[in-house]
Parts: sequence; C-alpha cells; structure tokens
Amino acid sequence: MQNLDERSVTAAVLDQMAQTRDKRLREVMASLVRHLHDLAREVKLTPQEWLSAIAFLTRTGQACTPSRQEFILLSDVLGLSALVNLVHDGSGVEQKTESSLLGPFYRQNAPAMGLGDTIAKKAGGAELLVYGRVTDTRGTSLPRATVQVWQTDAEGQYDLQKYRGEAMDMRGNFSCDDEGRFYFRTVRPLGYLIPMDGPVGRLVAAQNRHGYRPAHIHFLIGAQGHRELVTALYLADDAHIDSDTVFGVSKALVVTPRDDDPQAPLKGMPAIRYDFRLGGAAGEGSGRVGADPSQIAPALAGE
Ligand code: BEZ
Ligand code: FE
Repeated sequence: MQNLDERSVTAAVLDQMAQTRDKRLREVMASLVRHLHDLAREVKLTPQEWLSAIAFLTRTGQACTPSRQEFILLSDVLGLSALVNLVHDGSGVEQKTESSLLGPFYRQNAPAMGLGDTIAKKAGGAELLVYGRVTDTRGTSLPRATVQVWQTDAEGQYDLQKYRGEAMDMRGNFSCDDEGRFYFRTVRPLGYLIPMDGPVGRLVAAQNRHGYRPAHIHFLIGAQGHRELVTALYLADDAHIDSDTVFGVSKALVVTPRDDDPQAPLKGMPAIRYDFRLGGAAGEGSGRVGADPSQIAPALAGE
C-alpha cells in the first residue's frame, strides 16, 4: 500500500504512466504532470481555486462553435501559440521568414482570386497594394506558390464576426506567377480587440490588459517540397505595435506602406512590398497553431 505525501504523489503518477506505448505521448504527459504538480505546490493551490479553474476551462469549451475557437484564443493570450511558433522556427535548418500566429479567424475555403484582384469585395476603406515574391531561402523563386490572405476590414472586424460565418470578405487565395510573384489589392486593416465577450476576454480584462492586436494582414504560404509558412505583416504606425495581446509581432514582420513605389505593379495607392522565404521540407510540418474553427467543431461532434 502506498503512503503518498505532497512530493511522492508526483513519482507515483509518473510511475503509473511509464508504460504508455506511444513514446511522445509518454514524454509530453510526464512533463505536463511534473509541471502541474510543481505549480500546485508552488502557489499552494486551494480546492476552491482548482474548482474555479475547472469551471473556467469548462466555459472555454462551451464557448467554442464552428465559427469561434476559444481554446486557441486561450493559447494565444498565454503566449503559448507564439512560443510554439518560436520553437517551430528554431527547428528549421535555414533562415526562412519568421512565423506569426494563425489566430482563430482563418478559413480554409476562401475564394480563389487572380493576381491584382481586391480581397475587399464588400468592405470599403483606404486602398492598399500588397506585392512581393515567394522564394526559397537562397532567393530562388517558387513558381505557382499558393498565398492565402485574410485580415480585418477598415473597422477592425473579421467577416466571421461581421457576418457570423454566413458570408466571406477580406480574404482570398492566390497563386503566384511563374517567377513566384504575387500582388493583390486590399483596404488598410484596423487593429482590433480580441474577442472580449467570452471567458478568455474576461480573464484578459481581469489582468488589466488592453486586449488589442495591432493592424495586420495574415498569410499562409505553401509550395511543393517546402515547409508551409504561417505569418503576418504588421503596420508600423499602430498604437499597439509594441504590446500585442497575443505576442505575434516580431521586428522583421513590421512594414510601412510606401506612397509612389516605382516598382509597384499597380499605381495610385500606397504599396507594401514583402518577399517571403520558405524553408526546405526538412523538419516537416506546418507552423499552424490553430485551424479553421469549422474544422474543429464537427470533429468534436463526431466523437
Ligand atoms: C488574429 O490575428 O486573427 C488573432 C490572433 C489571436 C487572437 C485573436 C485574433
Ligand atoms: Fe488577425
């Protein structure tokens, strides 16, 4: 018969889990148990506090729908999505473009568009051109690379919020030309509050954080034989550029639209030029921390 105390309970749990056949599951779960037990000891977690945490996680699950993923939001505000991206970037062998968050507003079936089209089909605002090339890490073009783009409109709203999943706007899927070039029109996005009306937003408010993300444009870029890149470009003049609630900004991803860019493939509007470098296939895997929420909810319903 075991006689467990505050310390030996950890070893007893690790011992019971030691026969887990999947090696990675064994490694991750053992680390999770060690850290959770350390946390409980360190803060002297009370039963009432642990019940409150369980109620919070329950509400987080209940807030998830096909157009909303509250758990991804939780991972984001804890900086865990950003950390997983950093670990992922660090596992590559070459200097590719840095990752940034996928976030909860990605949709995988956005409309296909032609180069030069605008993704702002319904929304108005100050027009902007975005153009550049997709290359490998040596600067060799990747013809026909796919570029998926999504962003908020000029009022800081995603279509998923504005139309509750019933219409799409401010997103599109492009295919680069034979020299890996892409260009599209859009309107200048506005920074926005992360969804504050759920359990995660209430936690952020309780922590006295402002809850804003600086204005940005999301990209998910793919090319045969290369690591998928999930990233975003951030507008330098946004007031929250140095205090993103979800820690997605890095210096290399901050841009300033340029008036009168002589190289721009379309004239008459400010232009952002950015060349994206994709890493090789070595070290597999995409940088997606998240998914189209509609792909997660049905998977749960089927269980
Ligand atoms: C986004 O950039 O779409 C996003 C990321 C994390 C939380 C909320 C929104
Ligand atoms: Fe976003």
